[in-house]
Amino acid sequence: MYESKVRRRGVGLHAPSKATTTDSSATEPEPTIEADETSSDEDVSDKQPSRRVPAKALIDEDDAYTPWVDVLRVLSFLFVASCGLSYLISGGETFFWGMSHPPNYMQLDWWKGQWSGPLYLTPAELAAYDGSNPDKPIYLAINGTIYDVTSNRRTYGPGGSYQYFAGCDASRAYVTGCFAEDRTPDMRGVEEMYLPLDDPTVDKHWSKAELEAMRNNEREEALKKVHEGLLHWVNFFANNKKYPFVGYVKRPEGWPGTEPVRRLCDSAAQNRMPRKIPGKEDA
Ligand code: HEM
Repeated sequence: MYESKVRRRGVGLHAPSKATTTDSSATEPEPTIEADETSSDEDVSDKQPSRRVPAKALIDEDDAYTPWVDVLRVLSFLFVASCGLSYLISGGETFFWGMSHPPNYMQLDWWKGQWSGPLYLTPAELAAYDGSNPDKPIYLAINGTIYDVTSNRRTYGPGGSYQYFAGCDASRAYVTGCFAEDRTPDMRGVEEMYLPLDDPTVDKHWSKAELEAMRNNEREEALKKVHEGLLHWVNFFANNKKYPFVGYVKRPEGWPGTEPVRRLCDSAAQNRMPRKIPGKEDA
């Protein structure tokens, strides 16, 4: 044990010299250890007398080793590494994992969703997740896909500026802007908001055939605008890390053909204008 400790420290062990042993009479001299400061034993004569350290002192030093310094080092490293990792993962938001929007893979619900697959909810079942029950998550759907918007309860919960979107698929409202009235995914007729109003005093500037061709064109453009308007919000939720994907809305076969076409809401309808008279488009 003694020897192995000494070797580990890279020092040479010297037995006490004869002279020392004979000189001392009363007590056994303490063994000494020569510190390994010389490069080789041959040139000892040229050098200063070697510094001798009592072996007991070195042994005591070894025995005084405490693991706490190492533990402290490891803990400090883990702390710094954790801060760095938190900073990287949160995109510079926090050093201490206090992320307001942790990535999906750090959320238990997301893993549950991955494990159990997408949820399929009927409109009635989805309505139970409108935020009125604080113990339940808040779900909204757009174009049939459900997202969990619980992380933004202030906006989608009761009293929030967009509470109308919670607990339903309000695709129509995202385009018309009629949040309270258009809480439905039925998009039929929404394109009307982009169609010019028929006005005989203006429309007399075109022949019947011209007007017909123009109307077809206008409808095509209007449908494109509706599509783009909805797509904007579909992408907003699909690409938003704050709102994990939940599942899909279940609807009866043949829907919405089973229901009457809705009237365009007033605030969307009131923006419609007559066609521009040819040559007076800037008026
Ligand atoms: C068709 C029209 C509109 C739609 C569909 C719409 C939709 C939305 C949605 C879904 C959000 C929530 C975003 C999120 O989850 O972070 C939002 C936020 C917001 N919108 Fe609109 N918006 C519309 C018009 C407007 C208008 C006209 C204004 C301003 C007069 C406006 C002002 C805001 C503000 C200030 C926020 C942030 C609210 C908050 O975080 O509480 N929006 N909008």
